[in-house]
Amino acid sequence: LLPLPVSPELLTLKQSLGNGNNNNPSSFPPNFLFGTASSAYQYEGGYLSDGKGLNNWDVYTHRPGKVIDGSNGDVAVDHYHRYLEDIDLMESLGVNSYRFSISWARILPKGRFGYVNVAGIDFYNNLIDALLLKGIKPFVTLTHIDLPQEIEDRYGSWLSPESQLDFAYFADICFKSFGDRVKYWVTFNEPNFQVKFGYREGTFPPSRCSFPFGNCTCGDSEKEPFIAAHNIVLSHAAAVHIYRSKYEAKQGGSIGIVINAAWFEPISSSMADKLAAERAQCFTTNWFLDPIVFGRYPPEMQSILGSILPEFSKTEKEMLKKGLDFIGINHYSSYYVQDCMFTACEPGTGTSKTEGFWAQSYQKNGIPIGEPIDVDWLYVYPGGMEKIITYVKKRFNNTPMIITENGYGEVTKANSTIEDSLQDVNRAKYMAGYLDSLSTAIRKGADVRGYFAWSLLDNFDWEYGFTRRFGLHHVDFKTLKRTPKFSATWYKNFIAESKIPD
Ligand code: NOJ
Repeated sequence: LLPLPVSPELLTLKQSLGNGNNNNPSSFPPNFLFGTASSAYQYEGGYLSDGKGLNNWDVYTHRPGKVIDGSNGDVAVDHYHRYLEDIDLMESLGVNSYRFSISWARILPKGRFGYVNVAGIDFYNNLIDALLLKGIKPFVTLTHIDLPQEIEDRYGSWLSPESQLDFAYFADICFKSFGDRVKYWVTFNEPNFQVKFGYREGTFPPSRCSFPFGNCTCGDSEKEPFIAAHNIVLSHAAAVHIYRSKYEAKQGGSIGIVINAAWFEPISSSMADKLAAERAQCFTTNWFLDPIVFGRYPPEMQSILGSILPEFSKTEKEMLKKGLDFIGINHYSSYYVQDCMFTACEPGTGTSKTEGFWAQSYQKNGIPIGEPIDVDWLYVYPGGMEKIITYVKKRFNNTPMIITENGYGEVTKANSTIEDSLQDVNRAKYMAGYLDSLSTAIRKGADVRGYFAWSLLDNFDWEYGFTRRFGLHHVDFKTLKRTPKFSATWYKNFIAESKIPD
C-alpha cells in the first residue's frame, strides 16, 4: 500500500473532495481505462544505451540555451532501467492502463536507412509483458515528438514527403513486433503543438521559425508549419492504412491520434468573438482532426490561408477519411478568445493570418477564466473539460474519445521543499474537478472511453527541463527516488471508488 504523506488537515480536505464523481459510480462505462501517461524522451533516459541512435531531442537539448535549466533527457527519470519499479507504482494506484511512447531511435537508430535494434525491441517487449502481468493494458504512442536525427539530417524530417515513408516503416515494425499484445495505438502526440513550436516559434527541434518569438531569427517560410502538418497527417493515414490492411483483423486493436485540445471561450457574446473562438478551435484542434475524419482541412483555414495550405489529392482524400478509431484529447486549460479579424486587437496581442486572427486572453473584465497556477499557460477551469468534450462530440459525430492527458504542474522555486511537493492537494482538487466535469459529459452521452493523468512521475518537461513537476509521484532528480504525493493516494481512492464494471 502507498504510504500516506498527508497531515490530518489534508486528510480532512481529501474527505471533502470525495471521489469527484457525484457519488455516482456508474458514470464511467464498462472497461473504462484509468491510467497515467508518459513519453519516451521525458522518462526513459538511457540515451545511448544498448544501440539506441541519437534522436532530434538528444541533439537539440545538447545545444546551449535550448532548455531553461540547461538540462536534458540523457537520464531523464531513468525509466529505461527502473520500469519495473514504476509498474509497481502503477499497480499500487490500481490503474488498468499505462500510456507510454516508443523511442523511434531506440528501434531504428538510423530510421529506415539502417538496422532494427533488437535490444530496443526487447526493451518494449519486456515493458509490455511486465504491464500485462499486472493487468495493466499498454496504450502506445508511436512517436511523442521525437524522431531519429538521421531523418532530420537527411531530408529535414516533416518538411519532406519522405518522412511518410519513414513513419510508415517504423509503424509497421511496431505493429508487427508488439501488436499481438498492444490493443491501443496512437500515431502522434499533439502534432498541433509539435508543428507550432518546431516550425513556427522555434522552441522545439528543428527550431524553424516564421514568427517573432524569443531569440529566433524568424526567417523561415510561413508555409513550413502547414507543410510539416500535411506530412504528419499523411504519415498518420499511411500508418492507419498499414494497421487496417495487415494487422487489425488478426490483432483486433484500435488506432487514433492525440491532439492538444484547449477550450476557447468567446470573451463576449458578440458574433465576431464567437466566430473567433471557432477559428481558434479550427486552427488548433480541427487542423489535424478534420482531414483525418472528413478528408479536408477546416473550411475556415482554407478560406483564410488560401494557397498557404497544401492540398490533398483525390486518392489522399479518400485514404484519409475515417482515418481513426478514437480521438485522443490532451486537455489541461481554457482561454478567452477575442476577434482580431473584424475588430482590431491591441497591437501585438493577436495572432496573425497564419493562426486565424484571434487573441487569447486569460481574463475577462479583470477576472481570470479559472484559477491561475504557477505554470503560466494553465488556468484551472474544470468546466472546460465538459465543453471541449461536447464540442468534439458534436463536430466528429461522437467518435469515441479518450482523455490521453490531463494534469497539474508546479514550478520548482529556489526554496521549494520535497514536503511542499508531496502535499499536492491542489493537484488532487484539479483532478477531482476535471473528472467530475468529464463524468457529466459522459452522463450526457459523450462516448469517452478512458482518462490518463499526466503524469505518473515528475519528469523532463521539454524546454522547461526539470523545473516543472506534473507527477503523482515526486522524483528526486539527483537520486531518482520516487515518492508518492497526496494526489497519488487520492487518485488511487478515486479509481477504487469508481468501481468500473468489466
Ligand atoms: C503535453 C505533452 O504531451 C507532454 O509531453 C507535456 O509534458 C505536458 N503537456 C505538460 O507540459
